[in-house]
Amino acid sequence: MAKIAILGFGTVGSGVFDIFDQSDFQRKTGEVIEVKRVLDIRDFPDHPKKEIFTKDFNDIVNDDEISVVAETMGGLHPAYEFTKALLEAGKCVTTSNKELVATYGPELLRIAAEKNVRYLFEASVGGGIPVIRPLSACLQANKIEKIAGILNGTTNFILTQMIEEGSEFEDALSEAQRRGYAERNPAADIEGHDACRKIAILSSMATGDFVDYNDIPTEGICDITLNDVKYAEKLGSAIKLIGYAEQTDSGELYACVAPMMIKKSIPLSGVRDVFNAVMVTGNYLGDAMFYGRGAGKEATASAVSADVIDMVKTKTSAHPLIWEEGKVKMLNPAEKEWSYFVRTTADKTKIAELFGNVELISGVAEGEVGFVSEKMSEKEFAERNAQLGGAAIKVLQAND
Ligand code: NDP
Ligand code: HSE
Repeated sequence: MAKIAILGFGTVGSGVFDIFDQSDFQRKTGEVIEVKRVLDIRDFPDHPKKEIFTKDFNDIVNDDEISVVAETMGGLHPAYEFTKALLEAGKCVTTSNKELVATYGPELLRIAAEKNVRYLFEASVGGGIPVIRPLSACLQANKIEKIAGILNGTTNFILTQMIEEGSEFEDALSEAQRRGYAERNPAADIEGHDACRKIAILSSMATGDFVDYNDIPTEGICDITLNDVKYAEKLGSAIKLIGYAEQTDSGELYACVAPMMIKKSIPLSGVRDVFNAVMVTGNYLGDAMFYGRGAGKEATASAVSADVIDMVKTKTSAHPLIWEEGKVKMLNPAEKEWSYFVRTTADKTKIAELFGNVELISGVAEGEVGFVSEKMSEKEFAERNAQLGGAAIKVLQAND
């Protein structure tokens, strides 16, 4: 019998409990997996297994029978202290907590390697979508040249509601919270920080070295309006919050999070609702896309539980993952070239003077036009647009 514990009995943790309550996985692992303890600060007096709940972390870390722990509490503290103590006690840990992995990943991975146990985090990116393991295993022969992904379910849900239902931003956000998609503080979703941590984790997987999310320029969707959505429609495009990373020929890494306008011919544009998709370009494989539910109880619990099962089967790794710090060289974002969608109240002479002979789109808002610029560096665009005062959205093209 393998005994496991869950830290945090919220959306994801309760989903993990249900999976192991409903199936024992004996045929897959050779032993029955049982949830021995659940840690939460709340009481669950009506739960059928109320005797397994504890508020004392020592009941888990000091229990030699518990070999694998799922951390689904979220937040940095005490999740960091608990995870560190568990790894140091020789227990394997899996987490859905991307904030923790993106902040303390190098240290926690190093401790796991030193203690000859495993620290897995499949659910930290893309909810239920298998993407961490494919990057570390199936694509390991490739240099990962590029990653472009819809990495946040809440914002994709909000944008879908705005596009398809004409919903107001606030109403769509409330619904995402009601469904358990959003972070405890939903600013992390809508301001892009959650997607930023995820693209940092994916970039670390791609480069093999730690990419600090603080180095990644990040914009959210708070400034996207229904008029932007209407312009996108007129351009045969959709607006999505994209986490983007690219390894340049000169060996630098460029990464950003931003809302982007995407032509409907590009598969990412058709990813709706809470679904996420991660487009990965490997130098041998070419493009591959990983697609599925990016948030929600069951989908996320599916990924956490897969890690648990994996660690029950194999508690050590012959080649543990290590992310070294300070090795990745970041490209100055001002040098990265993009094409931009711009909407402005400037007159067409001024637009032509600054951006050349671009096609103007009108009929969305009184006294305003929109256009798509040529590709140019962020720096150059900022200089030209400063004279126009336009609102701008990056355009993701097939060859970006
Ligand atoms: P919830 O807030 O629903 O669940 C967290 C649970 O942990 C709550 O029951 C909370 O109790 C409890 N908790 C918090 N602090 C402590 C503590 N110190 N000791 C014991 N229990 C504690 O969050 P989610 O399940 O939504 O998310 C958990 C993690 O998974 C987060 O890192 C999130 O980013 C990540 N994630 C979430 C997904 C989703 O779809 N929801 C998808 C992928 C990842 P209380 O409520 O009383 O504070
Ligand atoms: N709040 C996150 C999202 C949860 O909406 O994508 C999944 O990581």
